[in-house]
Amino acid sequence: MTTYTLRKATPEKVRTDVLVVGIATGKGGALVPAPGAEPVAAALGRRFAPLLGSFGFRGSFGEVVQVPGGDKVNAARILAVGLGERTALTTEKVRRAAGVAARGVGNASSVALALPAVDAAHVRAVVEGFRAGLYRFDAFRSTKRGTGPADVVVLADGARRADVTAALAQATALADVTDQARDWVNTPPNALVPLTFAAEIETAVQGSGITFEMVDAAALAVLGCGGILGVGNGSENPPCLVRLTWAPADATGSVALVGKGITYDSGGLTIKPGGSMGHMKSDMAGAAAVVAAIRAVAARDLPVAVTAYLPLAENMVSGDAMRPGDVLTMLSGQTVEVLNTDAEGRLILADALTMAAREDHDVIVNVATLTGPCVVALGDRVAGLFGDDETVADVQRAAESSGELFWHLPIPDEQRDAVRTESKVADLLQHNWVRWGSALYAAAFLEVFVEGRPWAHFDIAGPAWNGGGPWGHVPSGGTGFSVATLVDLVAARAGA
Ligand code: BES
Ligand code: MN
Ligand code: ZN
Repeated sequence: MTTYTLRKATPEKVRTDVLVVGIATGKGGALVPAPGAEPVAAALGRRFAPLLGSFGFRGSFGEVVQVPGGDKVNAARILAVGLGERTALTTEKVRRAAGVAARGVGNASSVALALPAVDAAHVRAVVEGFRAGLYRFDAFRSTKRGTGPADVVVLADGARRADVTAALAQATALADVTDQARDWVNTPPNALVPLTFAAEIETAVQGSGITFEMVDAAALAVLGCGGILGVGNGSENPPCLVRLTWAPADATGSVALVGKGITYDSGGLTIKPGGSMGHMKSDMAGAAAVVAAIRAVAARDLPVAVTAYLPLAENMVSGDAMRPGDVLTMLSGQTVEVLNTDAEGRLILADALTMAAREDHDVIVNVATLTGPCVVALGDRVAGLFGDDETVADVQRAAESSGELFWHLPIPDEQRDAVRTESKVADLLQHNWVRWGSALYAAAFLEVFVEGRPWAHFDIAGPAWNGGGPWGHVPSGGTGFSVATLVDLVAARAGA
């Protein structure tokens, strides 16, 4: 466990193992201390820039170098992080640089961060970035790697200001729940099946003021949730739906969050090629993000009601598995012709969206690792964002403070029409084999079940999982993508 404290202190005087400073570049590529680092540069005087330069450090974004503190600085080591051009410095770059720094501090037991912490938003970015950079998933290793420093001091001039102390508390609370979401995403699929995931969610929300309910497969059958059951049928591990409610007495509005919780996606009979299956344990990242978000909302005691609907299922192959050609009767009463068992997300989400649409919420937001084609369109760092203009604009505003990248994609009328007219046997066609614009078709399908309510859909198939090495503040594996944006979206509705 790492303790985070805010201090207003001059950085060169702080006794610590590692002092982190940000170094930007100015005119002609000159190394210039970023806000927070100036006193360190001043203490070292004219030696500082040449010292960094002698290690080949050029101040470009994401570079790191460590130098001894020497006699002018009380820290044993100084870790300089490159921030790139001074004029292009943003809060998001600070978040990413803090993540880079976290991976650079080695086995230091105390760290002081003298990164740009000029206001509450920057303090938040420093703490979120550093915490995310320290994230490791060691639950299934015999030998655990380091646990990170015991003490982290965040140096900020506003250390005693209420907005700044709140920013630190909120950032560490957000990091706690986001780490849990990452753990779930990283957990192997044999250790996280629908019912164990539900049990872990129940444990996670205990004592938080959030109500936990679980609708098991038998109860889903009574309700008529043909989508969730159709997908879950092929697995030995039965599906379920978890419903979480945060309903503060002073609630000013109500938000529904719906998260895709496929604990493993083999594709079903429309089976995936082997190479695409390896990280399909991450197909519950939407559900994990929604749980994390509602926990953060409750931890902050935000006066907005939030209800989470989490359809959990495993998409497998068996004699009971759903077939391409099957027709399912959904909770909405509509029939759906299934043409691709690998387009399972929209089927489980449809029932959950119907539940959400039929309980009175002001807005519905669903989060899903929905389509590979969205990754083809936007890459693995940007989520697809669909929905009505007003809700989309709210999400885009929230994403400005969270730093997460979303790109608004359209739902063309042709796709809407295709969903409703192209099945030869049922009310709706689950999938068409047109390869182009498949992320849009999936969104058009989901939209049917929202029944005209304000709605946004995040397709996080790309950014939920980092298949490469860590970068910036983003760890390898489960990233926790969209937790921060969801929380900021709810916070904005609370006027916080
Ligand atoms: N879980 C996948 C989507 C996915 C792909 C997530 C890659 C993360 C990385 C989803 O259930 C799926 O299989 N989608 C299909 C969509 C297609 C049927 C339009 C896909 O990606 O091929
Ligand atoms: Mn699939
Ligand atoms: Zn899937």
